[in-house]
Amino acid sequence: MTGNTYLPFARPAIVGREFEYIAEAIRNGSIAGGGLFMQRCEQWLERQLGARRVLLTHSCTAALEMAAILARVGPGDEVIMPSFTFSSTATAFVLRGATPVFIDIRPDTLNMDERLIEGAMTPRTKAIVVVHYAGVACEMDAIMALASAHELLVIEDAAQAHLSRYKGRALGAIGHFGCISFHETKNIISGEGGALIVNDPGYLERAEIIREKGTDRSRFFRGEIDKYTWQDIGSSYCPGEIVCGFLLAQLEQAEVICAKRRAIHDAYREGLADLATRGRITLPDAKGDDANGHIFWLLVDDESQRTGLLTYLRARGIHAVFHYVPLHSSPAGQRFGRAGGRLDVTNSVSARLVRLPLYLDLSRDDIARITTAVLDFFDSAKEQG
Ligand SMILES: Cc1ncc(COP(=O)(O)O)c(C=O)c1O
Repeated sequence: MTGNTYLPFARPAIVGREFEYIAEAIRNGSIAGGGLFMQRCEQWLERQLGARRVLLTHSCTAALEMAAILARVGPGDEVIMPSFTFSSTATAFVLRGATPVFIDIRPDTLNMDERLIEGAMTPRTKAIVVVHYAGVACEMDAIMALASAHELLVIEDAAQAHLSRYKGRALGAIGHFGCISFHETKNIISGEGGALIVNDPGYLERAEIIREKGTDRSRFFRGEIDKYTWQDIGSSYCPGEIVCGFLLAQLEQAEVICAKRRAIHDAYREGLADLATRGRITLPDAKGDDANGHIFWLLVDDESQRTGLLTYLRARGIHAVFHYVPLHSSPAGQRFGRAGGRLDVTNSVSARLVRLPLYLDLSRDDIARITTAVLDFFDSAKEQG
């Protein structure tokens, strides 16, 4: 390693009143779920996203599980989703006994290729799960039109897409349900955390029951009933107040955080533009003004070049990483799911993708150091070649 400080891939940051709000949550006398900070976070999110109702959860995985229960999918049902995603996208539905059907992604956004959805449908298809990779929107107009024509539900896995937009609308607030993540690797964080966005009011009452262990406790807390009882299946999906206090402080700074991340994106793009023009790497097509700057990715030629680049950067104190092992090729994906067509782009991209470090206090100098190291790698490869 050279004398430079280590640059991690991600680094959680305190951005405002986190400690103050956590202390306030403790002073309020109750730190379980369903408290004042949870309500304040939910109201903040509803306003910011223009969403009808947001239910905070303890993770995006929990929100996806709630969506799967609400969608009433079960054994024999099929759910169309990309293979290029995190396990939680699929496990939520596999837990209900449904079968994930994996389709390929577009080479430009790495999102589900909307032109492949119809071909993957069968009479058993119940839902489409879209994943807005890197906070960049899927083609929601086409997807919603298809879903409506075939009477399917749309669940947005917007784990990475909090505060990104599609034609002016917040991601997560377009499908029947949206699921976002506040895991510490995301833009806005609470350690572990998430939210379910319920865009169709017909599902709201059941959603509250599912989150509260199958009881109507939410109605009881609002004074609408004089006791609460077991009503349906459910689980314990509420976050505690200490986590919500932390999250509220982050939400208050959310626009600033995303603007900073977008600026880092722009700086990377600028620093690597020439390399892309010379055809040595591929960068995302769109500049991504509507996106939240969550991930900066690039594609190299093949897997061995990627291993070379990651090792080269590591030796210079820079932690760049790859991303998903496609679900269709993973042991559980083969056991529980099936391919809904060829997955050539998924296979190719997953072997060639590199994500560069991206966190709030990454300085201009750090970015210059990283882009220079990437350029040096390709220069040295050329000399050796
Ligand atoms: C696409 C996608 N879905 C779901 C999740 C799960 O989020 P959480 O860790 O909040 O459960 C992640 C986490 O990285 C993700 O990237």
